[in-house]
Amino acid sequence: MPFALPDLPYDRTALAPHISAETLDIHHGRHHKAYVTTVNTLLDTAGLKINSLEEVIAGSSRDESNRALFNAAAQSWNHTFYWASMAPGAGGAPSGRLVKQIEADFGSFKAFTDQFAAAAMGQFGSGWAWLVDEHGTLKVKRTPNAETPLTQGDTPLLAIDVWEHAYYVDYRNDRRGYVDTFLASLANWDFASRNLEQASGGKRLVLAGTTAA
Ligand code: FE2
Repeated sequence: MPFALPDLPYDRTALAPHISAETLDIHHGRHHKAYVTTVNTLLDTAGLKINSLEEVIAGSSRDESNRALFNAAAQSWNHTFYWASMAPGAGGAPSGRLVKQIEADFGSFKAFTDQFAAAAMGQFGSGWAWLVDEHGTLKVKRTPNAETPLTQGDTPLLAIDVWEHAYYVDYRNDRRGYVDTFLASLANWDFASRNLEQASGGKRLVLAGTTAA
């Protein structure tokens, strides 16, 4: 069975006014959907049956002839991760073990948010900014286009999509306003904490929609 577009983990109106229903309709309902459709089409055309997006990503990341499949699979996974990285009424600072590790690895929570915002602003063109667990140390990374920390062996904890399609309807060219709002009002620290717990056990959460039915 092919991959399916996973439902958003909240109602399409739930992130307003920070991210509008119009943005989610286009971003999830068209962009994300198109990536999933492309994965299914390319796997079908190649006669491949692979039931995990992570496996598709790993199998195509180093092969330039599979670039289209990698891009679609990585974008499918990245977007599912991004939806879970936001929640209504979220943002601000995390608590518990996660904030302690952020403070230990970055110096302070403010130093982390400065680095995260700088990564999101510094990604020229399309891409992503991430908080990741790199072999037990938390780091901020940015990736261009469809690239994902999965190919580096990192465990992502939180992601922001900085492709223009993520913010142009609501923020026009004000990427900074979108990034600041993400940190202040949307960042899902409960999700990041769950990812950190998994990373500690050498595992990753398996998100709905990243495995074929
Ligand atoms: Fe996107």
